[in-house]
Amino acid sequence: MTVFAAVRLAPRDPILGMTEAFNADIRPDKVNLGVGVYLDASARVPILECVRAASDRLAAELKPCSYLPIDGLPSYDRAVKELVFGPESALRERAVTVQGLGGTGALRIGAEFLRGLNPDARVLISDPSWENHLALFSRSGFQVSSYRYYKPGVGLDFAGMLDDLRAAAQSTIVVLHACCHNPTGYDLSAEQWAQVAEVVRERELVPFLDMAYQGFGAGIEADGRAVAEFSQRDVPLLVANSFSKSMSLYGERVGGLTVLGKDADEAARLASQLKVCVRTLYSNPPTHGASIAAMVLTDPGLRQLWESELSGMRDRIKLMRQALAARLQGLSRDFSFVTAQVGMFSYTGLSLEQMGELREKWAVYGLDSGRICVAAINDQNVDRVAQAIAKVL
Ligand code: LMR
Repeated sequence: MTVFAAVRLAPRDPILGMTEAFNADIRPDKVNLGVGVYLDASARVPILECVRAASDRLAAELKPCSYLPIDGLPSYDRAVKELVFGPESALRERAVTVQGLGGTGALRIGAEFLRGLNPDARVLISDPSWENHLALFSRSGFQVSSYRYYKPGVGLDFAGMLDDLRAAAQSTIVVLHACCHNPTGYDLSAEQWAQVAEVVRERELVPFLDMAYQGFGAGIEADGRAVAEFSQRDVPLLVANSFSKSMSLYGERVGGLTVLGKDADEAARLASQLKVCVRTLYSNPPTHGASIAAMVLTDPGLRQLWESELSGMRDRIKLMRQALAARLQGLSRDFSFVTAQVGMFSYTGLSLEQMGELREKWAVYGLDSGRICVAAINDQNVDRVAQAIAKVL
């Protein structure tokens, strides 16, 4: 008997495991609405023109590939910080950004850092939340529980959310979806963010914003309003961001963790500790994706192109929401909420059994939670998806 004999088979990942099942499905008309990946009108992961141009330039001036600094490509970190706080913001002086392996990697660095700081802190995530929030923060050694966020048949449970945050102990880490709430698609309004930020300040909680979908809701600036609400109240703040979706750079794993301190001195100490986390997790990050993102963010022409391509993706998702909702009209259940939700996902309210039936009988893959990725719907598959939903109702 070796030590490995005791290893148990882990359950399939609720999101990426669904892609594995989808890939193994041989039915030709299968549709993958499981994972959060934006597909264009032809069902392809788009290569953005801004990314293509940046890639070409980088290829033409191919540089030797040494290690990046532990905290990442400096021009990338600077550009991310500007994206998070705005290009002119004085907050940049007291914040630190480290490159992360996608949004997940950024969350993980933040969790590692926070755990070292206060191992007894509790973590609160929204109910429901992205499946990996629970797994990631538990795995980092935290006790994780939830605050109310969504009420079936109603949508956002804002009163419940505020009550739960008010009841949280001091120093509780609160994971918040800055925009395009995953999985529900229900976001807070600007006024609601202000109220949440106020409670966080009063109760001395630690906000950790997951901003993986910036630009997919209402636009880059509007989607960043949560950051502004917290930062103007001088609370300690962590923000994980990602260019997986917004630049369609999924496999490059380009993200960032930005931490806002009290002053420049605190920011320098934070930076030193974040570097220790990175060094012991994976030493230093990869070069290519961050170089592309840095160029797109800082070259005025590419930046403009990116923002217009991003708004194109956002608009296509809205059109697909309308197309799906129109086809679901008149069913026994009201699906008009599909157009009220924002971002990549719709939380359909379908049960585990119904999602199973969608998958088994109709080859339409969503998540067991009832989440579907509207960003993978197109004119060719929308009828099929709507018919399948009608059948399982
Ligand atoms: C999702 O929620 O589907 C995406 O964020 C991909 C992932 O890593 O889970």
